[in-house]
Amino acid sequence: MYLNGSFMPASEARISPMDRGFLFGDGIYEVIPSYQGKLVGFTPHIDRMQRGLAEIGIQFDWSHTQWLDMIKELLMRNGNGDLGVYLHVSRGTDSKRGHAFPVGVTPTVFAFAFTINPPPTGLPGSAKPIQVASASDLRWKRCHIKSTALLGNVLHHQQGVDAGYQETMLFNEQDELTEGSSCNAFIVKDSVISTPPLDQQILPGITRLLLLQILRKHSTLPVQERVISKAEVLAADEVWLTSSSKELMPVIAIDGQPVGSGEVGAIWYQAQQLFAAHKF
Ligand code: PDD
Repeated sequence: MYLNGSFMPASEARISPMDRGFLFGDGIYEVIPSYQGKLVGFTPHIDRMQRGLAEIGIQFDWSHTQWLDMIKELLMRNGNGDLGVYLHVSRGTDSKRGHAFPVGVTPTVFAFAFTINPPPTGLPGSAKPIQVASASDLRWKRCHIKSTALLGNVLHHQQGVDAGYQETMLFNEQDELTEGSSCNAFIVKDSVISTPPLDQQILPGITRLLLLQILRKHSTLPVQERVISKAEVLAADEVWLTSSSKELMPVIAIDGQPVGSGEVGAIWYQAQQLFAAHKF
């Protein structure tokens, strides 16, 4: 692990219980995938982290190069395999617990690497379809910030797990699709690929960003960022969820009802293959 300037085994990493990350979930995090030492979306991931830190008023101004140097060393010390890199900056440790931002406190900077599956290929027979629950999105109104305060997401994720599924897809009060508890969402209908537009209801996912760029450049299928109703999701031919460590996950049932034919769709295979070919 990396903690505040040093590398150490996990068993030696120590953070004070007075850290605001622990007491308030007062911090920003990132997860960046790396395959055999090659990072996916490094620049947009760090851009997003810097935007998040600025938005919540944590003054921590490492450049992209400083992040990259630390991450490369962390990956090397973890064997440079297929790894997710978790980055976390909290507001820091204070002597007392108070809601106001403390003055003169140094942010806590923490990172570790964890094993992830080899990159999905999208080749025939490779799909790992998932089934999901649906739920009303009860999180807060700043979901574009990648905050370490994830209780809303955790509770929604557990809803799906308790129902026997792998994820939960969320819908706002107007019954419009927002995202999954830990991923972004796409639908395909009549060969048109759609995903909700960026606003404060969803995280601006880097997998979403890269996939949109790749599809617009390398596929002839139309791609739209637009409001998507729950009725459209339930009537879609294909539904996919995207995240850094899983890339494109095909959803074959929502609340036990099949999506389209109930099998992984042909466009998922095309899109995941394109993503595999062009993500670096
Ligand atoms: N989750 N939306 C939410 C709420 C997320 O937590 C995530 C990622 C995404 C996808 O973002 P990206 O493509 O940048 O990974 C969307 C991470 C992986 C996590 O919390 O572990």
